[in-house]
Amino acid sequence: MELDGNLDVEIWPDIKSRDRVSFAVAWKQPKNQFSQYPNLKVISSLGAGADHLLKDSSISQDIALTRVVAPTLTDQMSDFVTLSALAMMRRFHDYNKQQVWSDWKPRINYKKEDLTVGVMGLGNIGKKVAARLTDNGFNVSGWSISKKNIPNVVTYTKAQLDSFLASTNILVCLLPLTKETKDILSLSLFKKLNKPGFLINVARGAHLVEEDLIYALDMGLLNQAALDVFQNEPLPESHPFWGRDSITITPHIASVTEPEEIAELILENYKRMLSGIELLNRVDRYKGY
Ligand code: NDP
Ligand code: OXD
Repeated sequence: MELDGNLDVEIWPDIKSRDRVSFAVAWKQPKNQFSQYPNLKVISSLGAGADHLLKDSSISQDIALTRVVAPTLTDQMSDFVTLSALAMMRRFHDYNKQQVWSDWKPRINYKKEDLTVGVMGLGNIGKKVAARLTDNGFNVSGWSISKKNIPNVVTYTKAQLDSFLASTNILVCLLPLTKETKDILSLSLFKKLNKPGFLINVARGAHLVEEDLIYALDMGLLNQAALDVFQNEPLPESHPFWGRDSITITPHIASVTEPEEIAELILENYKRMLSGIELLNRVDRYKGY
């Protein structure tokens, strides 16, 4: 599908004239790419996260960074988190284990009214995920820097992390990866969760201290984890997570950008750049997201 036949688009690494590049679209680009384009003005992340751009020191501070905020991404993420929370509540992981042994053993369900799902990060995606969970009958709480008002969701601000955790059973991470949030999913945090405890990490692998998760599962601080993101992707074959039946692994597919949808968003920002109008979905370098 071609949205604008007049656009001059080149695909890396076949860039004919680096001087002519003013707008780039990137996802997990190789290091130190962007110093080679003297007239580059805007780089758009191909995904919702822009951490891969923010950590690239070859990107001049004069270049504006943008990211993708798309209804489809949010919708898919809401489905994924709801599905994971329901599977935890209905103990699908126990039945998966039992099936290996042909073991017919009904278990007592956790009840929705006895569980609270706590969403870390109430941004474009997190607030919609929280709303979808309430629509599905869960008790829901949420944590963010600034105060939020989401119907039927109990919201906490940054300094109230411990109260948020104490009320949470199923912890969902939807934070951006920043200096402050790196390694936030650690043993000390798992200890503060309400029991039974579960983890759904759909944000970034570097939010999680991997050995702490294994310890927390072994110690019974957590019953089950659903992980969609990892420090090294693809997750290496030898990684200990693969052998754990208390960890459900998916290959960074919780929500997947639809090329047609994001092409329109990117084109809109390209036109805005040409007209000198404020760009949509700017990344704030100071905040780190
Ligand atoms: P946003 O930038 O819209 O929202 C971020 C939220 O996190 C905001 O509510 C912000 O608070 C909060 N936050 C940031 N730092 C802190 C902190 N230190 N303490 C407490 N709260 C904090 O992000 P999106 O919702 O668009 O996306 C979230 C992340 O989801 C992405 O960065 C990406 O990593 C991940 N993602 C993963 C996908 C997958 O397939 N697995 C797909 C899409 C996204 P405030 O509102 O007050 O600023
Ligand atoms: C992401 C995405 O940021 O897939 O992970 O959009």
